[in-house]
Amino acid sequence: MTKPRIAVIGAGLMGHGIAQVFGLAGHDVTVTDTHALTLASVKDRILANLKALNDDVKAVERIRICPGLAEAVADADFIVEAVREDLGVKQQLFAEIERAARPDVILASNTSVIPITAIMGGLDNRARALGTHWWNPPYLVPLVEVIATEWTAPAAIDFTLKLLAEVGKTPVHVKKDVPGFVGNRLQHALWREAISLIENDICDAATVDTVIKAAFGRRLAVLGPLENADLVGTDLTLAIHRTVLPAIDARPGPSPYLEKLVAQGKLGMKTGEGFRTWTPEQQAELRALVLRHLKAARGDG
Ligand SMILES: NC(=O)c1ccc[n+]([C@@H]2O[C@H](COP(=O)([O-])OP(=O)(O)OC[C@H]3O[C@@H](n4cnc5c(N)ncnc54)[C@H](O)[C@@H]3O)[C@@H](O)[C@H]2O)c1
Repeated sequence: MTKPRIAVIGAGLMGHGIAQVFGLAGHDVTVTDTHALTLASVKDRILANLKALNDDVKAVERIRICPGLAEAVADADFIVEAVREDLGVKQQLFAEIERAARPDVILASNTSVIPITAIMGGLDNRARALGTHWWNPPYLVPLVEVIATEWTAPAAIDFTLKLLAEVGKTPVHVKKDVPGFVGNRLQHALWREAISLIENDICDAATVDTVIKAAFGRRLAVLGPLENADLVGTDLTLAIHRTVLPAIDARPGPSPYLEKLVAQGKLGMKTGEGFRTWTPEQQAELRALVLRHLKAARGDG
């Protein structure tokens, strides 16, 4: 059976990586982007990634660049959008895609936090629309959250889960379209407490990061929190929660400490200071370390 043909709309950081994953798995992939230079560089960027990872460079031959949206989606069996995080842009794009693509084709958005319901609500056929939330870089981080709205057909979810598993990803089914889906809810629950700890002068920012990296962060890749709770016992977990939960941050909005950093222009690595200070060398070192770690976790290490 021929493999589903994929169209990727938006060829930036995420889009080119998503195209790479499908191309490497033997799918024909069309890619389009409204920014001509970004589109022109897609194949070079994918080729550089493939070489760096010792993956089959022939994968790039399955990627076809299309200057126009209609051409990119005309023959596609699965369309994934990875354009900039802007509700209006995404809504307009999916309306255009719906006019140009076959009526049975699955439409997926890679939005980070915009509700899929808001992006897809105006479509004529909402049953084939869903979210696929990939993580950066798409060719190294296994997870893809597959998000259903109240309208999504179970068959569309099943098709997408199977497709993603076949290309080597670890897809999971998110049954309700809630803000942050699953991954970012978990991640930002942790970040909220991390910020609160330094805001309340319990420790400094470096200590927060060290505590995570040198303690439960070591286990997290192989031991999820619910596995861990079962490991220590739900009774112990309950006892800990009775003592600790009343003391941890439960404010509904962003921390004033974070608001102040942003107001002061302390935007993190891009300005040299955020929660911590960063020289260009320290930034490069950390980025390289993360990449090495992700490659090793993939089995290349
Ligand atoms: N960067 C991440 O770590 C990450 C992770 C998961 C999800 N996402 C989400 O993925 C999406 C893309 O993010 P990114 O980091 O790749 O952004 P990016 O800015 O690197 O790329 C977006 C691309 O979309 C193009 N574009 C904009 N409007 C378009 C249109 N109407 N048609 C075609 N192309 C268009 C832009 O020219 C740009 O090349 C966003 O929704 C983002 O929230 C990002």
